Amino acid sequence: MEEVLSLKNSFLEESRTVTSLAELQQLKVKYLGKKGLVTSKLKFLSGISPELRPEYGKTVNEVKGYIEEQINRIESLLKKEDHKKRILSEALDITLPGKFTPFGREHPINKVLSEITRIFISMGFEVEEGPEVELDYYNFEALNMPKDHSARDMQDTFYISDDVVLRTHTSPVQIRVMEKKKPPLKIIAPGKVYRCDADISHTPMFHQVEGFMVDTAISFSDLKGVLESFIHSFFTVDTPVRFRPSYFPFTEPSAEIDIGCPFCDRKGCSVCKKSGWLEILGAGVINPRVFEMVGYNPEVYSGFAFGMGVERMAMLKYSIDDIRLFFENDMRFLKQF
Ligand code: DAH
Repeated sequence: MEEVLSLKNSFLEESRTVTSLAELQQLKVKYLGKKGLVTSKLKFLSGISPELRPEYGKTVNEVKGYIEEQINRIESLLKKEDHKKRILSEALDITLPGKFTPFGREHPINKVLSEITRIFISMGFEVEEGPEVELDYYNFEALNMPKDHSARDMQDTFYISDDVVLRTHTSPVQIRVMEKKKPPLKIIAPGKVYRCDADISHTPMFHQVEGFMVDTAISFSDLKGVLESFIHSFFTVDTPVRFRPSYFPFTEPSAEIDIGCPFCDRKGCSVCKKSGWLEILGAGVINPRVFEMVGYNPEVYSGFAFGMGVERMAMLKYSIDDIRLFFENDMRFLKQF
């Protein structure tokens, strides 16, 4: 009997050192398993005198019940402890700064190019493209600039060979389109052009949008109407527009188109060189010589053409004073548009 009761104490003592569920399971087997210390005490039952037997059996069962209770209690404590440990080990530090993934965005030049294209499409123009590596014939000759023409000097040309150049303007697209299509034509041709020039207002590669319209009765007033509508849509409806006589070999008469300087409101500043006006476009009535080059009858057809620099339009629209900013890929600059 005493031995049975002492099992309580030895269990209690041993249970104090248990630190895991696995250890507890071992202890459970040791005391309550088939060959466990408590279980084996029941085997003595038959050898005990009948008077003491009930008392003995009761005591063994009491001890068994007590140990079971203790095991359950320790088990739930250990489970709680485990749960706490897991939560701590899986905890997230929500005060850590997040990982930053920068987003790309449309380049300001592409944005302005889309805007220009959108406006002309709304006026019924179609978009055509031409090659950036161009034949001398399309870039110059067919535009009424033969090899010895002095106007070639205005464009610092990158020559690939005697007959092949990097196009210096988008005007050759006029010739390519007119060679394969018959009037009426209402075309714009956006794209990259190249000139050997670099400073605060020139980069060796830049963008132009060419435009032209050919039909049987197109006049200079059509040119004025289309360009004024475009300028008022791209800038503001009250932007002052000025047509100034000029010269291009492929147009006659030719004009340069200025807008009132947006930097000083036409009062005169360093950007407009105190004139109050800024040039944004070259244009004119298509020279009959150009029509002859593509096999159009100049007695039947007439047209106008124009060309503008996209970087320049973007600089005026967003008050940017250095063209090189567009190509330095500094995100602090590019993110502003
Ligand atoms: N191609 C000219 C240049 O790059 C711009 C230009 C002027 C285009 C007059 C035209 C035009 O179509 O009619 O300087």
